Amino acid sequence: MDHLSAPMAMARFTAAATSTAPHHVAIVMDGNGRWAKKCLLPRIAGHRQGVESLRRCIRACAERGVRVLTVFAFSSENWSRPEDEVSGLMELMGKALAKEVPELQRAGICMRFVGERASLSPRMQQSLASGEAATAGNSGMVLNVCFNYGGRWDIAQAAAQAAARGEPITEAALSRAMALSHVPDPDLLIRTGGEQRISNFLLWQCAYSELFFSDKLWPDFDEAALDEAFAAYAARERRFGRTSAQVAQAAG
Ligand code: IPE
Ligand code: IPE
Ligand code: MG
Repeated sequence: MDHLSAPMAMARFTAAATSTAPHHVAIVMDGNGRWAKKCLLPRIAGHRQGVESLRRCIRACAERGVRVLTVFAFSSENWSRPEDEVSGLMELMGKALAKEVPELQRAGICMRFVGERASLSPRMQQSLASGEAATAGNSGMVLNVCFNYGGRWDIAQAAAQAAARGEPITEAALSRAMALSHVPDPDLLIRTGGEQRISNFLLWQCAYSELFFSDKLWPDFDEAALDEAFAAYAARERRFGRTSAQVAQAAG
């Protein structure tokens, strides 16, 4: 930034923040293992590169005016991977937290962990809680990290909460109890790595999200790839059950 006068810089910032960027972006960060294989490296090196890609993506989303970013970091099913990969991923999460929290803090990002915590080690539970506490007061972009998360787990835990409160199991009661009840549903769901499936991600919340599948492996998913996804999103017509004519009329 630079040679722009302050008012011009502000105008540019406002334009970016009010652009067609989706309010809430969710990402299945897939393809780390294949990236590592392509580079003749162990799978964990792909996950390490995946953390770098996430750092770049967080910054790019915040710059583009995204208000909520939700990423899938470890699924309920990922425990089925070889033991050394699982322990490597746990270790990487601990290290990434220690390194990135001060940076998130500087950027005003509020980080939340979403998933089943009781089966994580006490040390990991402590790291997640302190990462959240350190960034809780931030009013910038919300970063939800889905860790030991599964969409079916989420629906079941929400139903269990509602039942424990003696509430009837209605859509509203479940929505209130879902793990992402602090944010609106995702507008855009991106999956990298070429697979076209949900893999037990946000089953409840993605009822009306626009889906974008990228062939890029997660470590290769850069700003240009993100812009491509956002451009595709901007060209979609979201009808939510209505007709195209109704949507056009409502838009004026
Ligand atoms: C996604 O990358 C990261 C996690 C699931 C933790 P993968 O590890 O699934 O990468 P591929 O699909 O094997 O390439
Ligand atoms: C989904 O990726 C989970 C995460 C990105 C954390 P996977 O690589 O585990 O998905 P599947 O098993 O190929 O569907
Ligand atoms: Mg995968």
